[in-house]
Amino acid sequence: MAVRESIHGQWSTRWAFILAATGSAVGLGNIWKFPYITGENGGGAFVLVYLLCIAVIGIPIMMAEVMLGRRGRQSPINTMETLSIEAGHSTHWKYLGWMGVIGGFLILSYYSVIAGWALAYIRESVSGVFVNSTPDGVKGVFGDLVSKPWKLIGWHTLFMVMTMVVVARGVQGGLEKAVRFLMPALFVILLILVGYASETEYFHKGLEFLFKPDFHALFHVKDANGVEHRSWNAVLTAMGHAFFTLSLGMGAIMVYGSYLPSNTSIMQTSFIIAIADTLVALLAGMAIFPIVFANNLEPGSGPGLIFQTLPLAFGRMDGGILFATLFFILLTFAAWSSSISLIEPAVAWLVENAGMSRIIASVVMGGACWAVGLLTVFSFNIWQDVHLLSGIKIFKDATIFDLLDYLTANIMLPLGGLLIAIFAVWVMSREASMEELDLGNGILYKSWRLLVRYITPVAVIIVFMNVTGVFNWLSSIAWLQALFGGQV
Ligand code: PFF
Repeated sequence: MAVRESIHGQWSTRWAFILAATGSAVGLGNIWKFPYITGENGGGAFVLVYLLCIAVIGIPIMMAEVMLGRRGRQSPINTMETLSIEAGHSTHWKYLGWMGVIGGFLILSYYSVIAGWALAYIRESVSGVFVNSTPDGVKGVFGDLVSKPWKLIGWHTLFMVMTMVVVARGVQGGLEKAVRFLMPALFVILLILVGYASETEYFHKGLEFLFKPDFHALFHVKDANGVEHRSWNAVLTAMGHAFFTLSLGMGAIMVYGSYLPSNTSIMQTSFIIAIADTLVALLAGMAIFPIVFANNLEPGSGPGLIFQTLPLAFGRMDGGILFATLFFILLTFAAWSSSISLIEPAVAWLVENAGMSRIIASVVMGGACWAVGLLTVFSFNIWQDVHLLSGIKIFKDATIFDLLDYLTANIMLPLGGLLIAIFAVWVMSREASMEELDLGNGILYKSWRLLVRYITPVAVIIVFMNVTGVFNWLSSIAWLQALFGGQV
């Protein structure tokens, strides 16, 4: 088949793609979200499920997404339309692209607010406020930040403008340059932090929490009254996070794939990206949990976790001001290189379909996303007691931010991933995927196909059914009970 060309340009080399996609994958998800959801969901068993999801769902879907992007060479919406025509199927598949664009937009709306916290912490670090601080002192700094809407709006605005500027400059001018040396620098500073944590007496306890599976903790949640309930929600969260952390299920990796030179190995690059991403998350966990235990903090304390733990470590180490400042600068950069990929599918679509320049498209999308971000800003202060879905047990105490996070990470991304899997192996022809993946017809190609054809869809569907209670409902149906002797 004649190779299509992207009107938006191309990555200059294979490494540029790897860095950009790693830049997209490595972000707040690894350093902010992974530790706090691991803390909330009981530690080791959660990490195990997450790692399993990365290996058997994440990497194959990443390959599928890059493959679709490179073959379509357009924004996810147009790529899906083109490829469904090529495969002789309904163009309704373009709605999968739409779901991705909307998902990315919603994620960026809250992502930018949290990235704003990182920006705010650069200033706090420079001021020396963390030097020799106590757990209460650090908590106070965090509380003061999130309780003031104006402060949050200011930082959120700054971050959104930063994102728009890079996206407006385009593939090579903006995105590529930013990530080239930031990723390695982030890695080094995380290693320094793990080194620090390894010298505390609680390093062992931290590792145990992260790596020793406790399945009871995975399948049981405590409600506000301390009563335990069985729940599969943690498994859904782990799976959703595998999608979130690898930037899958919404077209970000697809759009990056559309700028990928034709002769690059999709499998190799996907592995490199997934491994780098996982390493960063695990290093972040290894740095954070020893500090949590050493200071008697609560691992399940939620989104503020890293902002209330790491400053304690920085406050006590030599050169702490420098390291703290560097860390939050790098965290901001990690978030920045992810945020641009969250909005790129929408911007690429506006350029293709509305004839807008990149600059205008970035401003339009960034502005709209900024406005939706206010919902998250207020979730931490004036609307912290607004619980829109309090009638549903698991959302009893959920703020608007919690709901947005749940809707995007736990529902839209796995659903997007499921549909991408179905498209890549059930709709697209075998010849087309063999041509793009370029693995021949040997064991590698066949394993990929098997995983994407059966394992991914089945895993996602089972988890969805469990969480939505479909199994409970089925098991309550009398004739099914009779048929299976109550074993459903
Ligand atoms: N992978 C990013 C992170 O871990 O922070 C977040 C993200 C970026 C999610 C792009 C989804 C996406 F499409």
